[in-house]
Amino acid sequence: MSYNGYSAIARVYDKINEGINYSSWADFFEACFEKYCGAKPEIILDLACGTGRMTLEMSRRGYDMIGVDGSIDMLSEAYSANDGRVLYLCQDMRELELYGTVGATLCCLDSLNYLIGDGELERVFSLVHNYSDPDALFLFDMNSPYKFEEIYKDNSYIFEGENDNGEAFFCGWQNFYDSESRICSFYLSVFEENENREYIREDEEQCERCYTLKEVESALEKTGFELLGAFSDIDFSEINETSERFYFAARAKK
Ligand SMILES: C[S@@+](CC[C@H](N)C(=O)[O-])C[C@H]1O[C@@H](n2cnc3c(N)ncnc32)[C@H](O)[C@@H]1O
Repeated sequence: MSYNGYSAIARVYDKINEGINYSSWADFFEACFEKYCGAKPEIILDLACGTGRMTLEMSRRGYDMIGVDGSIDMLSEAYSANDGRVLYLCQDMRELELYGTVGATLCCLDSLNYLIGDGELERVFSLVHNYSDPDALFLFDMNSPYKFEEIYKDNSYIFEGENDNGEAFFCGWQNFYDSESRICSFYLSVFEENENREYIREDEEQCERCYTLKEVESALEKTGFELLGAFSDIDFSEINETSERFYFAARAKK
């Protein structure tokens, strides 16, 4: 099993996702610790941590963080922002291997939708359960069927911006959603300006799988988790037919 995604997009990923408020999201995680455990976990795994924005945010709040991601390019962005306290590991989450158990696992920004093979979601849930302390929380989000069917569809997007050195980038993103396989392919083309004012092009294909609420609930149950709540947003609001993302809180039963 080998993972080789998130290469071309890694250097511009944080700029494209600049609008995501990881601080409010971390507040939500801490509210979940309070609501469902009454105690703060010590060691937390940030699964598919990417460039480590949430990992770093939680580290700054005093948690011992382990960040795992399969993309060396995303992790090299994370390393350059590391506060020296986070342990980053380059691993395919389908073959997660930790040194011990953790008090909570987080997985942000639809990273689990990247598990497109049959049985892969259950396999990863099972590994997370394996490395969870008794009653540890597992907090994650996934893109909803509404988002795949009505938002992503066959739409395309353009992002333009500048990196931290003031060099321009341009990213074209074309979607193709196959409603039979429920796989959405994203075709990304990134053009990055270099110091000679030339644009270098890199292309990347990514795929996400659409999971229904029921499928996720059943995978959690089969792998030893108790579902504590599923929400439409980080304000604990109820899921409705236009929720674009589902936020899950589950507890490892042991
Ligand atoms: C949308 S990004 C989210 C990154 C980060 N959690 C965030 O909030 O910005 C998805 C991440 O999942 C990682 N990923 C996807 N499939 C993976 C796999 N099988 N094993 C490990 N990481 C994976 C990608 O490398 C990427 O960093």
